[in-house]
Amino acid sequence: MDLNTYLKKKQKLIDGFLKAYTGGLKKQKECPALLSEAMSYSLMAGGKRIRPVFCIAAYEAAGGRSEEIMPVAASLELIHTYSLIHDDLPAMDDDDLRRNRPTNHRVFGEAAAILAGDALLTDAFGIIAGVKAPPEMLISVIRELTHACGPEGMVGGQLVDIMLEGKRAKKRELLYIHQHKTGTFIKGAIRIGAIMANASSAKLNALTKYGEKVGLAFQVIDDILDITGTPEETGKTTGSDIAKSKNTYPSLYGLKKSKEIAKGLINDSLAAIKAFDEKAEPLREIAKYMLERKN
Ligand code: IPE
Ligand code: IPE
Ligand code: MG
Ligand code: MG
Ligand code: MG
Repeated sequence: MDLNTYLKKKQKLIDGFLKAYTGGLKKQKECPALLSEAMSYSLMAGGKRIRPVFCIAAYEAAGGRSEEIMPVAASLELIHTYSLIHDDLPAMDDDDLRRNRPTNHRVFGEAAAILAGDALLTDAFGIIAGVKAPPEMLISVIRELTHACGPEGMVGGQLVDIMLEGKRAKKRELLYIHQHKTGTFIKGAIRIGAIMANASSAKLNALTKYGEKVGLAFQVIDDILDITGTPEETGKTTGSDIAKSKNTYPSLYGLKKSKEIAKGLINDSLAAIKAFDEKAEPLREIAKYMLERKN
């Protein structure tokens, strides 16, 4: 299979859904124009859409076929975009460039940026509520999402990331930060795909292991790209972690060892889904692509 073609195809579907969503926002009479503009600005600025893609690929690997996965997958991108808008705020990482554009608060001001994030997060659950699937399935999806992105997931990780800024984290603290701020959401996206496909518990467990490894690797590589990448490639301010004395894999382990750790994690992720048939080929290719990605 050709990963590039696969990614383009899925990204197009996701972008189509998101475009219809932002189009709908504009027409909501009660939604202030400034709010829908701020929400659309970051949501439609591009981005790899990797969480929805992981979700769809896991769904397919577990035997899912229908289009019903699309809104669920796209809702993940609303949550992810909210997390980026808030991550860039002056009180957090204070960054100026995101997805090749000035950050949300730079354009719309801090208050509108915070609220655009809040609105995207809230709407994600509204989208899921409208999906045509058995209610128990959707409740499982919501449970996964709150676990992945809430206090014992992304938000918890983000808090510790900020609290330990400027201090040297212990290795287990760094692992906590990375697993929680990024890993659990990616793992959750994959589990949600599997749940929507009604995967057996054996398959769900294997995909969970895959997600855990690939999710952590994703953030290790993000750390590496903050050092080795350029703003043109990443669409973000690079060197930002060192400037803010962040705890990253390169800051604790060095670049070379961090690359080895990422490679080890990707190998583990591939091993976890060894027993899957060719429908898991996209998941395998995405895992390998993680090690080469430039953005
Ligand atoms: C950036 O996520 C934030 C992290 C959790 C590392 P992505 O690298 O997926 O950003 P986009 O969505 O492609 O812009
Ligand atoms: C962000 O980690 C994780 C979340 C947004 C939840 P980073 O702060 O490293 O992400 P970038 O590098 O700004 O995209
Ligand atoms: Mg951050
Ligand atoms: Mg950041
Ligand atoms: Mg980063």
